[in-house]
Parts: sequence; C-alpha cells; structure tokens
Amino acid sequence: MNVVETRERLAAARAVARGRVAVVMTMGALHDGHVELLRTARGEADTVLLTIFVNPLQFAPGEDFERYPRTMANDLELARAAGVDIAFTPTRDVMYPQGAPAVRVDPGPAGEELEGASRPGFFHGVLTVVNKLFQLTRPDVAYFGEKDYQQLGMIRAMVRDFDLPIEVRGVPTVREPDGLALSSRNRYLAPAERRAALVLSRALRAAANAQADPVATGIAEFATEPEVKLDYFVLTDPMLGPAPAHGPARLLTAAWVGGTRLIDNIEVQLP
Ligand code: PAJ
Repeated sequence: MNVVETRERLAAARAVARGRVAVVMTMGALHDGHVELLRTARGEADTVLLTIFVNPLQFAPGEDFERYPRTMANDLELARAAGVDIAFTPTRDVMYPQGAPAVRVDPGPAGEELEGASRPGFFHGVLTVVNKLFQLTRPDVAYFGEKDYQQLGMIRAMVRDFDLPIEVRGVPTVREPDGLALSSRNRYLAPAERRAALVLSRALRAAANAQADPVATGIAEFATEPEVKLDYFVLTDPMLGPAPAHGPARLLTAAWVGGTRLIDNIEVQLP
C-alpha cells in the first residue's frame, strides 16, 4: 500500500494506477462500515484509492471537529488488510493551501433540509471537499455508504449537475448485531447511551413494519427512551422527495443521545 500525503505524490501514484480506479472517501476512525466500502471497491475495481481527511469545512463552530477520533495508525492497518492500493492522507494545508476556500459547492434547496436544516453549511462543506477529492483522485467509480443517505443523494446530484465522469455506487449500511448502525461517533457513547442509541434502529424497523402511519409509529418508539432527543423522523421517496402513497420509500431519522448526534435510515415498502 502506497501512503501519500502530498498532491505531488498522489498525482504520481495516480498516474501509474492500473485499470478501473475506485475511490472511498472517509474521515478516518475506520470501522467495519468503511471496510465494507473498501471490500466492495476491491471486488469491482482494479485500483482502490482511500482518502482519509477530517474536513474542517463540514463542521460548524461548536461541533466535534477537535475531538473527532483520529486513529491513523489503526486506519492504515485496516486499509492494508482490505487491499487498498493508495491511501491519500492530506493535512489541512495540503487540502486547503489558501485557507478556507471562498468558492464552495452550493447544494441547493435539498441541502437545507434534514441534515442541512440541523447543521447549516454542512453540505456545502461535504460537497466542496468531495468535489476537490474527485479532482485530485480522478476516480472511475466512487463508493459511499447508505448510512449517510442524504449525503449519498447530494453527491449523486452534484455528479449529475456538474457532469462529472464518475459512477457513484451506494453501499448498504453495516450494523452491529443489535442493530446500531456503525459510526465513528459511536465511540463517544457511554455504556448507558450505547443502549439508548438502539432506539434509532428500533424505531426505523417498527415504522417499516407498521401497517399504518409509519412516522407516528417510529416517533412513538422514541418515547421509550426519554433521554434521547429526537431531531427528525421522516418518510420520503427513495430520492428524498415527498413521501409516496405506496411502493418503495425511505425512513430517515436523527437524534441526540447525550452530547452525540446520530443518524440512521432504512428502506421501506409502503403497502
Ligand atoms: P465518514 O463519516 O468517515 O464516512 C465515510 C464513508 O463511509 C461514507 O460514504 C459513509 O456513508 C460510509 N459509512 C459510514 N458508516 C457506515 C456504515 N455503518 N455502513 C456503511 N457505510 C458507512 O461521510 C464522510 O466521512 C464525509 O462526509 C466524507 C464523504 C468523507 C467527506 O468529508
């Protein structure tokens, strides 16, 4: 595995990369969810390029940028084991040599909803760094997790609207055996919070199985965990548009478990 920190070394590694090139972008603190993206990429592409960068642009003041887990040595071990060919681990100065960029990707109105409503500027920061990493890595295909379902949709929209010659593939959410979606932020949870956090996946499953009114069913489930503060619980169509009357749809939720904000979502078939 070739670990490169600068643009020059990335460009040199990219120039000799073989065949179909896949990219998996992460903020590190790698877990089995990230590894699943790498494994999928490994099975479908000739060269697998991993990026690890905690992007300051997508954290609002007061969010967890400073305390976001940084586990680079362990990340590189997992990457090696998953068969990564190139790991790009830029510093902040490598990514943003001029400081915070003045020109940013505008996510449009969809970027102001759900995650964007609770985290102003979040999707500007995400799409700007994803766009920069697309330019720097020039992949044929890019893998993103359905865990961040709205992010996946916004990236698909950017690729479409900017005519980027990149195939975007979604990978299903990897969960703990008890249902909790894997997240780098799960390591913030104290044991009691870890148990309480199960309400997100429990509510989504209850709603997906409800005979009527999935949203009311899911919200009612949150009442069983008064310590968990629900942010949103919504039903949309698979493209995050208005909820359909029947057929395929998506349930998405976000909640605060103590000081930790978690998100999850699930596919649903409306009767
Ligand atoms: P991060 O949270 O590190 O996630 C990196 C990728 O792993 C994303 O595509 C995310 O959806 C996927 N992922 C995380 N948990 C997962 C799980 N349990 N199952 C499946 N996939 C999972 O998302 C980001 O970083 C950043 O916003 C980034 C796109 C790298 C831009 O900075």
